[in-house]
Amino acid sequence: MRTDTPQTVRLEEYRPSDFLIPRIALDIVLAPRETRVRATLSLEPNPAGRAGVPLVLDGDELALVSIALDGAPLPESAYEAGPDRLILREPPARPFTLAIETQVDPTGNTKLMGLYRSQGVYCTQCEAEGFRRITYFLDRPDVLSVYETRIEAARADAPVLLGNGNLVETGELAGGERHYVVWHDPHPKPSYLFALVGGALARIGSTFTTASGRAVALGVYVEPGKEERATYALDALERSMRWDERVFGREYDLDVFNIVAVSDFNMGAMENKGLNIFNDKYVLASPETATDADYGHIEAIIAHEYFHNWTGNRITCRDWFQLCLKEGLTVFRDQEFSSDERSRPVQRIGQVRALRARQFTEDAGPLAHPVRPSAYREINNFYTATVYEKGAEVIRMLKTLIGPDAFARGMDLFFERCDNTAATVEDFLACFAEASGRDLSAFALWYSQAGTPRLAVTGLYDSQAQTYRLDFAQSTPATPGQPTKAPVVVPIRLGLVDADGAPVAARCERLDAHGVFVLAEASDSLVFENVPAPPVPSVLRGFSAPVRLSLDLSDSDLLVLLRHDEDPFNRWQAGQTIATRLLVRASVSGTFCEEAAEALAGALDAFLAAEGEADPAFAAQVLAVPGETEIAQEIGENVDPDVIHRVRDRLRARIGARLAPRLAALREALETPGPYSPDARSAGRRALRNAALDYLAVADPEAARPLVVAQYEAADNMTDRFAALSVAALVTGGDERERLLASFRQRYAGEPLVLDKWFALQASIPEDGTLARIEALRGDEAFSMANPNRVRSLIGTFALANPTRFHAADGAGYRFVADAVTTLDRTNPQVAARLLTAFNTWRSMEPGRRNAAREALVGIAERPSLSPDVGDIVGRTLE
Ligand code: BES
Ligand code: ZN
Repeated sequence: MRTDTPQTVRLEEYRPSDFLIPRIALDIVLAPRETRVRATLSLEPNPAGRAGVPLVLDGDELALVSIALDGAPLPESAYEAGPDRLILREPPARPFTLAIETQVDPTGNTKLMGLYRSQGVYCTQCEAEGFRRITYFLDRPDVLSVYETRIEAARADAPVLLGNGNLVETGELAGGERHYVVWHDPHPKPSYLFALVGGALARIGSTFTTASGRAVALGVYVEPGKEERATYALDALERSMRWDERVFGREYDLDVFNIVAVSDFNMGAMENKGLNIFNDKYVLASPETATDADYGHIEAIIAHEYFHNWTGNRITCRDWFQLCLKEGLTVFRDQEFSSDERSRPVQRIGQVRALRARQFTEDAGPLAHPVRPSAYREINNFYTATVYEKGAEVIRMLKTLIGPDAFARGMDLFFERCDNTAATVEDFLACFAEASGRDLSAFALWYSQAGTPRLAVTGLYDSQAQTYRLDFAQSTPATPGQPTKAPVVVPIRLGLVDADGAPVAARCERLDAHGVFVLAEASDSLVFENVPAPPVPSVLRGFSAPVRLSLDLSDSDLLVLLRHDEDPFNRWQAGQTIATRLLVRASVSGTFCEEAAEALAGALDAFLAAEGEADPAFAAQVLAVPGETEIAQEIGENVDPDVIHRVRDRLRARIGARLAPRLAALREALETPGPYSPDARSAGRRALRNAALDYLAVADPEAARPLVVAQYEAADNMTDRFAALSVAALVTGGDERERLLASFRQRYAGEPLVLDKWFALQASIPEDGTLARIEALRGDEAFSMANPNRVRSLIGTFALANPTRFHAADGAGYRFVADAVTTLDRTNPQVAARLLTAFNTWRSMEPGRRNAAREALVGIAERPSLSPDVGDIVGRTLE
């Protein structure tokens, strides 16, 4: 624990560093308990900083062993060293070197920040402020240094030693019992991109030749024996590198690019220069152990971390307030990559579903903050859906607003102008203003104003004048610290469709060539001329802005869009809108409209008949009923998750019953012979087949049971086997459920990543007994509170994906998660704080649950010695 309470850091108080560190030489001797770190910093006063001030280096739980200035040991009076900082009282006003020796304990490092061990492998995680847990440093992203890293270890302990950059020297010591390597990274970088790895790892690799003909050695390092499971990741890396050359003109810039998979990792993966470190669940995949969704995640995250090499590493962030500059932009880039590699419409639907489930929820709760926050107490708590997903949406809007050509020119200018700098959002936007000749100052509000804008649209047809008018009004609800809001610039892609679904060729001057209308005021109107009959408006095509749209179309108009709109996203959205409306009404009023449900089921049946086989991946998305969180979000207040769950099940049963014959036929038609392939087309077929199995089970559990068991037993891949197990666990139940769960546990006894699915599935069962089941699973020998993946699977899934049990009326779910958070906070605050964000909807619950949630939160807040991470989240959640 840090000894003092953290101070609030404010964007407006940014000051350049008083010192620079152009070079650092590290000499690290790895040992399980006593790793010795010698850092030689080349320091100099920063002309842009203050002169004549002490040098204050950051530390975190550090112990100083020795310190020397320009080679001479320093007297104790010259400095002050504590666990969280080192102060040199009177540093020279010229360049000088500081040699600092510290000692750290990788084995005892349970926070998994800084240098730690995962299954015996030494590894590091330095973003955002982990480097200061290795040595005293100016641990801020605007201090860029060239790193040379010598790593020494016992050969038996760590036969493989990896660092950033290129390998420049290797050698033997103690007759070969020990060895060392020297890595040199020529690109100046901030400390958060430093990494090293040491351990017994196996490698697969290939050579990538860049567009300009340079050879790059690619390596993926995994636990020995798992090499085969890394081939998909290596392939995804090669495709990412090629794509970034083709689409963004970005080439790789070192001779080596390594990826290492480790089992204990707080996050998904990390973009350290030339040495990405990954949570092994985002590297390892085989048909028998990974689902189609896993393959998709691996592809996206490999791409994401690779793309950071330019957006994040070559151009980094001036300070952590600019986090979206690298994360939002890089998410945008990985989304574009996945859209090019797979189905763009299906990807877009997935992005929007995730955005609504995670970011809209965040934006509507106590943790709401702008894409670029203006203050933080603990930066780890700002790696959020808002910074990432909304940050990506802002880039997407920018592209929609200025058009693809100006966007491409702006990116080129950004790469050219900001290369090797620590940049800001302003620097970024200036490139696009220049490239497009547009004033982007109003657009910039997206970065500083929190909250999800509501966009209300009404249409009015004038048969006399043959005109159609669309009225737009926007408003953004208040968020913590921002009581009043200004209008934002909303690019709205739209079009008109006639009663048969054909595009209406009406004239409207204010639409650009791509059908985009830009709403820049609180309200505005559009008029279409030469409209022969009342049209159906298709608004916010492709989800062109992250807003909540209210547009009161009749169910029959929505059905026209579902069947015919040229925009696939709005086709999908039309079905979702009908279902959401029905579910919200049923939840709030208590009356379930059978006719509306029947009409929707009929439309889905017709849709499936017409195109289920042609685009099964899209069809699977159309069939999916909106999630419970989304419905809760629409209801907004006095939420009762049990009611939502019941009405949603009822609609699903209704759809299942109506579609059963067709779904059974589709299951046959979509059966794919031959060996498993993770490609998007095959995955789409499996997705629809498994959605069909789910519906058949909901409609008639008894009849579906043999199907479920047969698929479970016969599956030759994890996607189908786990889909069957999920239906057994969540729908058909009974003795079969326990039998299949036990069979799965035994079959994958030695596969922790597969057992994570097993933990997660059981944590998501929406039944009374789930909490008791979880308590029992905590005792399973495969479970460990020390492993973030296990914790997220069992406890995270319960808190974030089992709304009826987490929000149980008696408060038991809240108490359970609160206990887990306080326990975990002692060892891994970062993961504990993430779990705690499950409480962010507590105020929207009905009064009984609200009180129970408050009690659980107050219970956490009152505990002595909370970490800054958990203290910050609990404080803001209760505010
Ligand atoms: N830079 C982050 C990793 C990170 C996050 C480090 C938070 C420290 C604190 C990395 O690029 C990242 O964004 N990873 C994501 C996955 C990505 C595909 C969105 C993650 O780890 O969840
Ligand atoms: Zn990232």
